[in-house]
Amino acid sequence: MRTKIIAGNWKMNKTLSESITLASGIVNGLNNINTKAEVIICPPFTSLETVNSLIKNSKVKLGAQNMHFEDHGAFTGEISAAMLKSVGCEFVILGHSERRHIFMEPDEMINKKIKKALGSNLKPVFCIGETLEERESNSTFKVLETQVRNGLANVTGSELLNIIIAYEPVWAIGTGKTATPEQAQEVHQFLRNLISQMFSEESSKIVRILYGGSVKPSNAESLLSKEDIDGALVGGACLQAESFLQIISVVN
Ligand code: PGA
Repeated sequence: MRTKIIAGNWKMNKTLSESITLASGIVNGLNNINTKAEVIICPPFTSLETVNSLIKNSKVKLGAQNMHFEDHGAFTGEISAAMLKSVGCEFVILGHSERRHIFMEPDEMINKKIKKALGSNLKPVFCIGETLEERESNSTFKVLETQVRNGLANVTGSELLNIIIAYEPVWAIGTGKTATPEQAQEVHQFLRNLISQMFSEESSKIVRILYGGSVKPSNAESLLSKEDIDGALVGGACLQAESFLQIISVVN
């Protein structure tokens, strides 16, 4: 049985004091709900250290939203894997569609980041997803296969076990449009088969594949009931403790 994950991607939201309020709300709320979910929160860089101290004695785990693939140097504005480790991060989101489309990160760069994260004991939450245009031109599977093959180039079978995949159709992110559970399941099954071909059948049964894109309390249950959907990467609905907790409580 794969333990389900509910991960919150705070994106560029929450000042330090707002982060304290949200993280405390999640930690306190979790004491009152019954859930089997593994819970991860990914605040902005400026809040990581403080949030880490707030979640220390809870079941909440910490992730960052991005990192650079070099160890250090003249890369103004960038953050290294070691820096993330030093403030308590266990996970890092890589290849998010906003990084791919707004900041033009290509597959090769995402692959370098994934390799660096793995070598630094950080677990990548590796995001992939097709645009609306790609879906409408029936190239969804081809696009996803390219993203997965390039993103996971030179990743070994044992390294794969530290990677979480997140399928996030670009057209569903922040738009209020969610993939239907059937559409998502179809893609997740495709991805699991692809992982089986690239690595092994055994790894494909272990790797967790999250769905992301307008997940909210009202649709979480139907999405998470699908066989190959192992959790959710939540954006908008994770910015309030109450709605994030409602999604977490679906996993019981
Ligand atoms: P959303 O974002 O839930 O606001 O659509 C999800 C994500 O981008 O990870």
